[in-house]
Amino acid sequence: MEDKKISAVVTGLGMYVPDRIYDNAYFEKIVDTSDEWIRSRTGIRERRILENGATSLLASKAAEDLLKTKNMSADEIDVIIVATVTPDMFFPATACLVQENIGAKNAWGFDLSAACSGFLFAFQTGCSLVESGRYKKVMVIGADKMSSIVDYKDRNNCILFGDAGAAILLEPSEDIKYGLQDSLLRVDGSGKDVLYMKGGGSLNPPTHETIDQNMHVIYQDGKAVFKVAVKGMADISYDLMKKNNLNGEDIAYLVPHQANLRIIDATAERMGINRDKVMINIDKYGNTTAATIPSCLVEYYRDGKLKKGDKIILAAFGAGFTWGASYLVWSMD
Ligand code: UT7
Repeated sequence: MEDKKISAVVTGLGMYVPDRIYDNAYFEKIVDTSDEWIRSRTGIRERRILENGATSLLASKAAEDLLKTKNMSADEIDVIIVATVTPDMFFPATACLVQENIGAKNAWGFDLSAACSGFLFAFQTGCSLVESGRYKKVMVIGADKMSSIVDYKDRNNCILFGDAGAAILLEPSEDIKYGLQDSLLRVDGSGKDVLYMKGGGSLNPPTHETIDQNMHVIYQDGKAVFKVAVKGMADISYDLMKKNNLNGEDIAYLVPHQANLRIIDATAERMGINRDKVMINIDKYGNTTAATIPSCLVEYYRDGKLKKGDKIILAAFGAGFTWGASYLVWSMD
């Protein structure tokens, strides 16, 4: 933990999930699967699907929910960072579309691409902007319309993902015992071939052939990713705790990326944390990529389960590979 004069603290929260639900019974009708297989292998019961609109809608509605709850004007926002792998378009950035939708006329912003670690990386980036002393109100949004890149004929993947958006506001505090305390973040490009979308970028620009070859959907070697995800998320969370002299008892909550309940359980076990201290919403939403961690924060805070002073660890693992963990002390009453 380096010396710092200003801490970046979370001061606002918002989220949005679409109304349309795809439960496990829906998938039993479209692919060869069962409710039992999905629940026991992943922990997922249902996910939300956005039928009309794109990721900017999920992100903008989450941002509006935050502004409304906080009774704050969009003019006050300095920066908007949108973590997503399903931007409305390659450019302009989804952050620009959110800026227009919510009327944040004094903001600048950008998108950040780190797949399932997107929120964690955007959170670190947003905190650094606040800690620099240069920006006072930074909105960090995790939003993904995963249904736009899921192949609903592929039973290995289609059951896993859902659509959602969630937002947090970061502001400076001179009380440095609150807010982000420390992070360990990593990327390793050797993981590029086991979880990716082959087509659409400059490597394989869209053509009739890329469509015929089904290259515009998620490809994942689930088993290969599972092994490294368990080790990656558990090890880095453990290392972060050790570095900050924390043990399982000190931690109020582990807030893990929601890809698979078995990965979450293995991480908690390695950290010496009981299941009741692990934030979970994968059962309701599936894997919403950049929205998993912030949506957990929103729901647990609104349920009165997350209290000022709580020490929490955010942890994620995703395509790239990208992974990491952040330690923060909760600042909202
Ligand atoms: O979020 C970013 C990072 N991503 C992750 O962290 C995901 C990591 N991976 C996983 O969560 C898991 O690997 C999966 C949930 C994707 C798959 O679970 P698994 O226990 O690793 O299953 P598997 O891939 O080893 O497949 C076991 C069997 C296979 O059948 P055979 O070959 O044993 O006959 C699959 O074909 O289960 C079959 N299978 C299914 N069966 C019913 C795969 N998908 C399904 C399905 N329903 N939906």
